[in-house]
Amino acid sequence: NEDKFKKVISHAKEYGYVFQSSEIYDGLSAVYDYAQNGAELKKNIRDYWWKAMVQMHDNIVGIDAAIFMHPTTWKASGHVDAFNDPLIDNKDSKKRYRADVLVEEHREKILQKINKDIAKAQKRFGDAFNEEEFRATNGNVLRRQKQIDDITTELTRVQEENDLAGFKQLILDLEIVCPVSGSKNWTDVKQFNLMFGTKLGASAESAMDLYLRPETAQGIFVNFLNVQKTGRMKIPFGIAQTGKAFRNEIVARQFIFRMREFEQMEMQFFIKPGTQKEWFDYWKETRLKWHKSLGLGEDNYRFHDHEKLAHYADAATDIEFNFPFGFKELEGIHSRTDFDLKQHEEYSGKKLQYFDHEENASYTPYVLETSIGLDRMFLAVFSNSLEEEELEDGKTRTVLKLPAVLAPAKAAIFPLVKKDGLPEVAKEIVDDLKWDFNVIYEEKDTVGKRYRRQDAAGTPFCITVDHDTLEDNTVTIRHRDTMDQKRVKIEDLKAIIKAEVDV
Ligand code: GAP
Repeated sequence: NEDKFKKVISHAKEYGYVFQSSEIYDGLSAVYDYAQNGAELKKNIRDYWWKAMVQMHDNIVGIDAAIFMHPTTWKASGHVDAFNDPLIDNKDSKKRYRADVLVEEHREKILQKINKDIAKAQKRFGDAFNEEEFRATNGNVLRRQKQIDDITTELTRVQEENDLAGFKQLILDLEIVCPVSGSKNWTDVKQFNLMFGTKLGASAESAMDLYLRPETAQGIFVNFLNVQKTGRMKIPFGIAQTGKAFRNEIVARQFIFRMREFEQMEMQFFIKPGTQKEWFDYWKETRLKWHKSLGLGEDNYRFHDHEKLAHYADAATDIEFNFPFGFKELEGIHSRTDFDLKQHEEYSGKKLQYFDHEENASYTPYVLETSIGLDRMFLAVFSNSLEEEELEDGKTRTVLKLPAVLAPAKAAIFPLVKKDGLPEVAKEIVDDLKWDFNVIYEEKDTVGKRYRRQDAAGTPFCITVDHDTLEDNTVTIRHRDTMDQKRVKIEDLKAIIKAEVDV
């Protein structure tokens, strides 16, 4: 799988999807640029989300709030005080770790040892092997399972009690039980705020300290009443937005999975207090359906309910996706109660209440949030679509089976040869189709090579103009996934492509 992930990263670069930011200066860690195809794919994912959330829901509207917000926003939201990661430095290697991630790596290593023991025993005992019995009786496995349970309990405790000395001790103990770094030389654990600070204003005296927003959600909360009043919205209703967010992540790896500058697609759904459980269930189901509609594989999703809740939530779950490096969070669904609106009322001194005509009473609404990282969704779609396929003639082909609705270009149009008027006809088809779809014209290399290139770039259809076209106005259309080729009329192309890419 590590191999697969490396392929995903190099394919993303080779086919113009994702580049390292400022590559000519050796890059900037955890910051990436979307290239000509990547920008299209990202836009199509954003549009697909927007359509499902805003266009298809009568009671959800979209906004586009600024990245800069009044600094008191982040006091009220709790981010100044509570948006921290615990970090620890190794004095020998000079490497910086997130303390909780380091503990999880230890736990993972012990888990791998258990799996190794099981695999070995399975080989030895063959059909007679009973895994459940082996787990319950084998001394080594029992001891290791106890270690894992103890680590989990202690990690929860140090996190809940913010016991930084206990956190360090846990890491020191684990380095003895099951070394990850092989070093005993650690600094204390410190809390590190993830927000990027900057300044607004020209002169030193008048400059105001600002933060780059670490989530888009607060732009929605502070506009809650403006939107409700001007849009005459009745509860329950939602406000959606997409936009950049920034976090000074300590552990920044795994390509575009965890970035320092990324994009979120968030929706806050304002509801009557007491109805949060039913809306939590509704949005869990609705969001999972949205993911599954893309056809990336039903088994590639699972819910992970949170035990440790963020400072604002009374219930939370993640939709996890099976990335090349395992199941990891793709989207968060949070029941945020009235935490945010109440906090903003307190810090701004302005009432953020809703008058419910049916109830004949005012109240501070509760909020159900769905929050998904656009870049993470991009990685899920891209990595899941990349396949090496064995062909009947023994050769392999690389194909990027992107859902057609998301593919950057929907069709590539080729003249069979660069003469006899074929390029002119192909360009006419391009000029006609481009009003409806993003299409490309290609005339270099053999048609076979052009097919392969478009397969790898993710283009669902290739259309070839040949000498027969001049006689009967038909072309060959080839489907990326099945490689089936059909002879069709030029005038039917639009409908054929539309049938595949429309949702
Ligand atoms: N408003 C709630 C919120 O921001 P979160 O769980 O911190 O919740 C929501 O983030 C989603 O944003 C995550 O599920 C993930 O998809 C995405 N995300 C968070 N941090 C990210 C990062 N550093 N890089 C890329 N995506 C990130």
